[in-house]
Amino acid sequence: MNNVQPKSFFLTPENEAEARKVIAKYPAGKQASALLPLLDMAQRQHGGWLPSAAIVYVAGFLGVPEVKAFEVASFYTMFNLEPVGKYLIQLCRTTPCWLKGGEDIARTCETRLGIKAGETTPDGLFTIKEVECLGACVNAPVMQINDDYYEDLTPDSVMKILDALARGEKPKVGSQTGRCGSCACGKGEA
Ligand code: FES
Repeated sequence: MNNVQPKSFFLTPENEAEARKVIAKYPAGKQASALLPLLDMAQRQHGGWLPSAAIVYVAGFLGVPEVKAFEVASFYTMFNLEPVGKYLIQLCRTTPCWLKGGEDIARTCETRLGIKAGETTPDGLFTIKEVECLGACVNAPVMQINDDYYEDLTPDSVMKILDALARGEKPKVGSQTGRCGSCACGKGEA
């Protein structure tokens, strides 16, 4: 856990209302099933990471043991227990992406940003994180930046994406080769 922790956390009134709608989707007595979406909501409200106070708050909101909420928050890589940069780069390091050049993608990110996996650039713009399969293997190699997927990557396209983000622009998401959806290579280019 991060050493700098806020003393308290509360969902905003808007998010609390939204949280009650989420809980209502589950059968009575099964509100603990809303743990994942509520932790995600708390994380988004808190600038992309979950302080201990937020985890405790969500556990209390759902009436589940705090330890269960901490278990969930520390198990899934989608939850960040430390502050992250404005752009959280999640590099897929599982076999299909590795076979398709994922190592070059990782090196390109590290060289361009001057940081290693698990670190944030001094300007607070970028954090690199290594994760397991992002579920888009057919378009490997893949990286996720915040909520967007970037696929069919090459070192050159990674540089263009990072440069665009650093300039405050929104790079093209999805396949970087123009592949349509998950069509076979060379087919269905948009
Ligand atoms: S192995 Fe990279 S997305 Fe599945």
